[in-house]
Amino acid sequence: MKGVLLAGGSGSRLYPLTRITNKHLLPIYDRPMVQWAIEALVRAGIDEVMVVTGGTHAGEFLRLLGNGHDFGLDRLLYAYQDQPGGIAEALGLAERFADDQPITVMLADNILERSIKPFVQAFAEHPHGARVLLSEVSDPQHLAHLGVPELDEQGRIVRIVEKPEVPPSRFAVTGIYCYDSEVFSIIASLVPSGRGELEITDVNNHYADKGALHYDILEGFWGDAGESIDAYYAVNDFVRAHGANRP
Ligand code: DAU
Repeated sequence: MKGVLLAGGSGSRLYPLTRITNKHLLPIYDRPMVQWAIEALVRAGIDEVMVVTGGTHAGEFLRLLGNGHDFGLDRLLYAYQDQPGGIAEALGLAERFADDQPITVMLADNILERSIKPFVQAFAEHPHGARVLLSEVSDPQHLAHLGVPELDEQGRIVRIVEKPEVPPSRFAVTGIYCYDSEVFSIIASLVPSGRGELEITDVNNHYADKGALHYDILEGFWGDAGESIDAYYAVNDFVRAHGANRP
């Protein structure tokens, strides 16, 4: 399967660090953040990736990642997002790269203790609809900064609520998604949200409305290093002590 790594956005929650660089180039332990995400995709068996980024530091990604061969990639392509118009807008730039095939999408500020290979393989076996990876989060205040699924009695996702005041479950939607090729026509139909972005949660809710949004619950640590400066350091501490993307 092909992979799309989203590394644009403004990184405003990590200002002033991200005034002078792209968030995904900040260090997590001994390497730039984006490198952990590349490793996650490669260890899941993905060898063709498109990195979507933007802003004034986009050139640094080329300097760091080059043609991707040093990181185990066969082919690495780049797309440039003019403005931080949302996760779904960034993904839309990968339409031609995806070429009507199923894709795995990862937000480059997400770091996981365990490999995402089982999740990617589960979708590769039934590459229809969409699949999200959930993580159990005990603190409702933390969930208020994330996408949270509402589950019915059979455990199916009814919908995802983005940044809920009252979380409808104890799970967070992580930034790792698998989609069939319909995702691009869904993105084309979206309208910007209240914050002026094309939201990935609206994409996922299109699939949920059709009963086509599936999920796995991940084991081990998951962190969104871009969520806050404290989250950034919590992820650093975890990776320093335990590493990431372990089988
Ligand atoms: O990390 C998991 C969370 O990621 C999910 O629980 C939420 O449902 C999902 O909406 C997202 O929330 P965030 O508030 O963390 O999204 P953020 O705006 O920080 O963007 C996350 C990544 O997406 C960012 O590291 C780079 C990429 N991105 C974002 C925007 C807004 C782009 O490539 N382009 C963009 O325009």
